[in-house]
Amino acid sequence: MMLKNRHLLGLEGYPRADIAKIIDTAFRFREVLDRPVKKVPALQGQTIVNLFFENSTRTRISFELAQKRLSADTVNFSASSSSLKKGESFKDTAKNIEAMKIDAVVMRHPTPGAPWHLTRFVDAVIINAGDGTHEHPTQAILDMMSLQERFKRLKGLKIGIVGDILHSRVALSNIYGLITMGAEVTLCGPANLIPLHVGELGVQVNHNIDEVIEWADALNILRIQRERMGIGLIPSIREYRRLFGITSERLDRHQKEIVIMHPGPMNRGVEIDSQIADGDQAIILDQVLNGVASRMAILYLLMGGQETKPE
Ligand code: CP
Repeated sequence: MMLKNRHLLGLEGYPRADIAKIIDTAFRFREVLDRPVKKVPALQGQTIVNLFFENSTRTRISFELAQKRLSADTVNFSASSSSLKKGESFKDTAKNIEAMKIDAVVMRHPTPGAPWHLTRFVDAVIINAGDGTHEHPTQAILDMMSLQERFKRLKGLKIGIVGDILHSRVALSNIYGLITMGAEVTLCGPANLIPLHVGELGVQVNHNIDEVIEWADALNILRIQRERMGIGLIPSIREYRRLFGITSERLDRHQKEIVIMHPGPMNRGVEIDSQIADGDQAIILDQVLNGVASRMAILYLLMGGQETKPE
């Protein structure tokens, strides 16, 4: 096994050396993606099931592409068109899929801890593609790869994470990963959307976005989950945009080079303006490309593709 842990369930307590190894391997796979024939035989003969119980654009397509680039056989499962709709349990669904001789499962699920639960009754490598409000470890790996690509280091980098931290699996995995890699993290957002005691994770909290912009090398802007506005967590979109929105006027006032990230999907005109999302400071589409390379690296290292290392 090339990584300490058999599964990738989250970045809490994940070894620093293994994060570094995944990112280094991902950079080598990035070169494969630039070739005319973007494919290596590393996982030939291995079968991966993408088990998605929640909507996804980037993560799902990115994993599927990564699997095809590594020559693995891929099966996609969508909960909405499965026998779950006829009342079959999660466990029975998973055991039936496993009986078809699979090697790995990539799973997105709305329940925190669901990928861990799956490891208890399925004997395949499990990769968490986002579990409710808990973790999204592959997103954090691709975010760190994108920062390393831009700054050539992670140690000592100052990263602001802005928005609804409380409900964000992207935020939590980024916090664990960035702190492990020696970066500094400041969280910024409405007080009711920042968890109590989050300082215990080694991060700072600052509710003033302008101070965070002055301090940070990069901002990771989170999606404002409009579906939560109806339950009163954010008073109004206009108020949120005024206090925390990354607008052209706000960045112009600071006259500062700062890298802008967003995991997607974006609410243009709410947490981020289109001029910023599509501007020179944004690395949002680099993140998407690095997502394929990162997921290739994760699959390769977890599934033992050592015979055919990327050159
Ligand atoms: N960043 C991310 O997880 O996007 P999707 O929900 O589209 O997969």
